[in-house]
Parts: sequence; structure tokens; C-alpha cells
Amino acid sequence: MTTLSLKINGRPVTAAIEPRTLLVDFLRDSQGLTGTHVGCDTSQCGACIVLVDGRSMKSCSLLALQVHGREVTTIEGVAPSGDAGGRSLHPLQEAFRRHHALQCGFCTPGMILSALDLLSRHADPGEALIRTWLAGNLCRCTGYINIVRAIRSVASGRGADAPD
Ligand code: FES
Ligand code: FES
Repeated sequence: MTTLSLKINGRPVTAAIEPRTLLVDFLRDSQGLTGTHVGCDTSQCGACIVLVDGRSMKSCSLLALQVHGREVTTIEGVAPSGDAGGRSLHPLQEAFRRHHALQCGFCTPGMILSALDLLSRHADPGEALIRTWLAGNLCRCTGYINIVRAIRSVASGRGADAPD
């Protein structure tokens, strides 16, 4: 066993782990953060995406020890209050709700975290850039049109209430 220290959703965490532990397994099994999904385990689907120091990464392809000393944000930490239970949503979560950008919701955490990284780099990405950026996120319900609309609606301060 070895000691892992990091911040998760703003909270300092220290834990004893097996060195081979994947980040996604640590988040789900040790921390109970099951909003980080496992769709493929082979770095294809993006359901496991989290932010590491603000950058989107596939947590099924990282050892937990690779984020030692860093800050990880999961979907549970995206809403301003840290509570995405319906009382307080991040504007991008609200946009996904408003634009019907999810069906089963399995891909949604990864889509939102990936899009947050995109929006932190490009204030107003166009549709082509959004689609290219999301190439590593698969939606089995194929709801890409509304996902792109939701992301476009919050770009450059247009807000979740912007027209399609
Ligand atoms: S579970 Fe990580 S990319 Fe699919
Ligand atoms: S909404 Fe079902 S996989 Fe995307």
C-alpha cells in the first residue's frame, strides 16, 4: 500500500491505496463518487472523464497515484454548492436540462466535464470545434445535436436561456 494525497472537489483527501489502483476505481469505490462512469475501460467512450487541475482526462486511463498532489473535479463537484441534486445546477448542467441534451444520462458527466474544459480554453467555440472536441465522448443514445446546442448556449455568456 502507498499513500495518496490530493484534493477532490475542493476537499483534501488522503488514503492508503494499492499502487495499481486506477483513478476511476478510487473515485467510485473508495470515495463513493459514482457520477464518474465506466463505459468501456479502454479509453474510448469518455464516460469516466474528470478534470485534473482543470483539464479533462479519462480517469480509466490514469493511475490514482498520477494525480497525487493535484486537484480533481468530478461531476459531483461541478454545481456551485457541490450539490447537483436539483437544487443548484451549474449553468452548463442547466443548459443540458433545458436543451434535452441527455436521454439515459450515462455519458452526461463526461460530456459536461469535457465541455467545461473546452469552454475554459475557448469562450465561444463554434459547432465544428465542439464536435471535434467531443470526439472522445461517445453517446450511445446519439443525442449529439442537443448536446452541441446546450454547450453553444452557455458559450460567451449567452446563458442557459439563449435561443437555440
Ligand atoms: S471508461 Fe474511460 S474512456 Fe470509457
Ligand atoms: S444520453 Fe445515453 S449515452 Fe448519452
